[in-house]
Amino acid sequence: MMRAKVYPSESFHLRSDAIAPDKSISHRSAMFAILAEGESRIENFLRAEDTLNTLTIVGHLGAEIYDDGSVITIRSNGIKETPEILDCGNSGTGMRLFCGLLSSAEGHFVLTGDEYLKRRPMKRVTQPLRNIGAKLDGRNNGDLAPLCIRGASLNAFEYESKIASAQVKSAMILAALRSNGVCTFREPELSRDHTERMLAGMGARIEVEGLQTRIWPLEKGLSPLNIRVPADPSSAFFFAVAAAITPGGHTIIEGVTLNPTRIEAFKVLEKMGAEITYTLSDERYEPIGTIEVKYAPLRAVTVEENISWLIDELPALSIAMACAEGKSIVKNAEELRVKESDRIKTVVDNLNLCGIETEEYPDGYAVIGGELKSATLKSYGDHRIAMSFLIAGLKCGTEVEDVECINTSFPNFFELLAQCTKVER
Ligand code: S3P
Repeated sequence: MMRAKVYPSESFHLRSDAIAPDKSISHRSAMFAILAEGESRIENFLRAEDTLNTLTIVGHLGAEIYDDGSVITIRSNGIKETPEILDCGNSGTGMRLFCGLLSSAEGHFVLTGDEYLKRRPMKRVTQPLRNIGAKLDGRNNGDLAPLCIRGASLNAFEYESKIASAQVKSAMILAALRSNGVCTFREPELSRDHTERMLAGMGARIEVEGLQTRIWPLEKGLSPLNIRVPADPSSAFFFAVAAAITPGGHTIIEGVTLNPTRIEAFKVLEKMGAEITYTLSDERYEPIGTIEVKYAPLRAVTVEENISWLIDELPALSIAMACAEGKSIVKNAEELRVKESDRIKTVVDNLNLCGIETEEYPDGYAVIGGELKSATLKSYGDHRIAMSFLIAGLKCGTEVEDVECINTSFPNFFELLAQCTKVER
């Protein structure tokens, strides 16, 4: 088990165009290439465990993959049955989106994952897919992996999701593309919309109106993808928090997606007092540009809306809350309980170990700003918990156990952090 130690730092300056490429877009690039006719070209694919697992699965499903070390090209051969067990590792996105994609494919498929993924709920996708004719099963009546899928013909649907989840929405959109009629999906709050943007960019007919998405079944293969994956704002956010909590701190993140469904956490940090500017420089499937963050004293904030837009950043945001003046509150975030760890519990327990007073609620927590104290903490096998509490180390010095999980999303995290402070592993 690898541990890492971060020492307190008086300053934080980082300008980088090397933040990990976006995880959500990388997963989708590899998967959607299977639906294309011809060769898709993906530049700056995230070479982290989660997304490399997805790429391997795409290969098992019959796609030809060429990787010159910089650009990955994927030539689809449709979806082929495979004797391989498809291992999604730690990735809920991988497993849930493959459920949607494989439900209509000819053959039998088995999806599995690591010890953490095997504990996460899958019924949110298996149930609505079963309702439209998919033959899907798993432990606990289809809720837990390993999951098995026998491709079947799918009926058109109108589905109203109770949770704002891009994973559920994407699984249903993928199913809809190969169903027998026009489908409608509704969600309670708009979740991240990469699937809609990318598939529409490849020629699928997908119309979004407020919280409703209409999807027409494919009449022919999609055009190949030609994408350069932008930097991941969720990964960039760790350094935004680092800059925001260090007097004089400053960071400039280049080539990052400015998709509004992904940068809400930066908006919250801005509301807390940090100085943030966004500069648009490109538009390809997504708006892309630069985010600059400068330190200013932080004040407490209440976060209760657009939770799905900042769900992945709440652990890092909790570190900013710990450094802010006053009591910050997070509500309506029960989804945190079923992420890579129970992030309500893991955030609260670790903050307490750092001497920060908290309150735990079923759907969130309160953080009372104070002075972070040096501590040894667990990652709970959760990459975002590990990175958040290493960033806290800039203030107070922290040691985090079991940091291998960082490789699931941000393999060069330590390299970038070591440019700014003393790190030991
Ligand atoms: C993701 C959606 C989010 C997010 C996850 C990636 C995606 O999950 O937490 O890290 O790529 O669709 P939910 O949509 O289930 O909230």
